[in-house]
Amino acid sequence: MPPSNNHGARDPAAIVILTGAGVSAESGIDTFRAADGLWEQHRIEDVATPEGFRRDPALVHRFYDARRVAVQRAEPNAAHRALARLDAEWRGDLLIVTQNVDDLHERGGAKRLLHMHGELLSALCAACGERHRWTGPLGDGPACPACSRAALRPDVVWFGEMPYPMERIYRALQRCDLFVSIGTSGAVYPAAGFVAEARASGARTLELNLEESEGSALFDETRLGRAGELVPAWVEEVLGAEEG
Ligand code: OAD
Repeated sequence: MPPSNNHGARDPAAIVILTGAGVSAESGIDTFRAADGLWEQHRIEDVATPEGFRRDPALVHRFYDARRVAVQRAEPNAAHRALARLDAEWRGDLLIVTQNVDDLHERGGAKRLLHMHGELLSALCAACGERHRWTGPLGDGPACPACSRAALRPDVVWFGEMPYPMERIYRALQRCDLFVSIGTSGAVYPAAGFVAEARASGARTLELNLEESEGSALFDETRLGRAGELVPAWVEEVLGAEEG
């Protein structure tokens, strides 16, 4: 589905892409909702909520410290690289909004990128709100380098917390001509609501996923398969149509 401009201008079409865990699966990073409903053998309530962190901070730190190590060993795959190529070559507006906390999109080369659920390689100070790039462990309780008032926590948006720059994301959704969802189950809001928001603004909608997601009925087109195959083929189609 090459994008066409719905908004009457001569500019190339504006594209918003939402990615989820499925885009990193072929890099060896586990998705969240595998068949057993656990995330790396843990209940989501224990490791991805503020209540879980208050109850057992050592467990939560161990969990994210291990994820941080795993992510730094992983490599971007063909889907990350194809999206980076699109980012570099697409002349129109483009925004990649990822729910993933890994850094594989940026290591693949993407620039026009937002991490709506935070980043594993970042630490957040609960006292002053500063975010610090962080590649090592947090379990030994390092103090915030900016204010020294509190220990740092993972800079990951947990259930019940507000995702990162929602205003900017909604503005892009309202102006886009094409919305593409890649490798996400459509189970977690607000991201799961983006397709409806884009449709309401007149955008075409495309889903690339291994299996039908909870929101599949809302997409104009769904293509099923592995992101490492579907995404490069779609990017080729989009850039080829622009040249032709
Ligand atoms: P999920 O684990 O819920 O969904 C991953 C989706 O990717 C599923 O629909 C899979 O079928 C699909 N998938 C798996 N392998 C794939 C592949 N190789 N190619 C294409 N698709 C594939 O992950 P998300 O939807 O990203 O939030 O989860 C959303 C949020 O829930 C996460 O960001 C996280 C989690 O709790 C927070 O941490 C706040």
